[in-house]
Amino acid sequence: MTLYGVGLGPGEADLVTVRGKEVLEECDVVYSPGRLSRSVALEHVDESKIGDLDFPMTKDEEKLRAAWKEAAAEVAPKAREGDVAFVTLGDPNVYSTFGHLRRTIDAFHPDVELEIVPGVSAVTAFATAMGVEIEAGAGLSLREAANGASPTGPDRMILFKVTDAPATHEGLVAAGYEVTYGRRLFMEQGETLVTDDPTEIDERDYYTLAYAEKADLEIEQATAAFLDDGEGSTAASDESDANDDESSGGEPVADGGTVVSEEIAEGCAHGDCGGH
Ligand SMILES: C[S@@+](CC[C@H](N)C(=O)[O-])C[C@H]1O[C@@H](n2cnc3c(N)ncnc32)[C@H](O)[C@@H]1O
Repeated sequence: MTLYGVGLGPGEADLVTVRGKEVLEECDVVYSPGRLSRSVALEHVDESKIGDLDFPMTKDEEKLRAAWKEAAAEVAPKAREGDVAFVTLGDPNVYSTFGHLRRTIDAFHPDVELEIVPGVSAVTAFATAMGVEIEAGAGLSLREAANGASPTGPDRMILFKVTDAPATHEGLVAAGYEVTYGRRLFMEQGETLVTDDPTEIDERDYYTLAYAEKADLEIEQATAAFLDDGEGSTAASDESDANDDESSGGEPVADGGTVVSEEIAEGCAHGDCGGH
């Protein structure tokens, strides 16, 4: 008898994983923290299975603790009798409400078995939705940018909770970033929008993220040369370069430093990173 934390993915019902769907179908009760996650869950289970939990809209920590204790007290007995699920959008372990439930269950109901089913997070879905490639070897940082905040520093950032895009944009551009915004990516509810114009999304919508990249980044990927040179000349120079690669000390990483050749040889040669 288990409490499953199930990641539902960004919002479209068919981006729930096969395992997530199976778990939802097998569970006796499915709890959700909000309207959107509930509507995705309803694509896979009957409404009669949806459990009731109340979450106050507050930042008051006392009230939040009381609400999560109450939620855990509702969920725990059900998870002792049978299998239950608590769903979240994206992945349950990435900026997610599931962490509150897990900590509260661990503290007050430690006998309850817990299992997590990962979901497609906005952290990865954004790249496809926005047509961005995070090249092998590149650094990527996650930040929150609520209420017009403009965190800066890393070469590339995904910013969550972009609730005031024009204000966030101003700070990022002043710090030398190029920024693309994505709203309601892979979501059935509401209109999906990808734009680099913050005035197009000046209305507050919680399901908005941004990808910010330093404007002066120089990215050197081996296959990028196909776009710059003629294919023939690239192939010819590839052949003559092949031996040099073996003796090179490593390849540069845009966030600074190098990937040492041992890492490439041992960690990546047989993995799915394509050897960089
Ligand atoms: C509390 S975090 C939840 C992240 C989620 N657990 C995940 O793994 O994707 C909520 C923030 O994620 C971003 N987000 C989540 N899903 C999104 C989507 N489908 N489209 C755009 N932004 C999304 C938004 O920035 C939103 O404010």
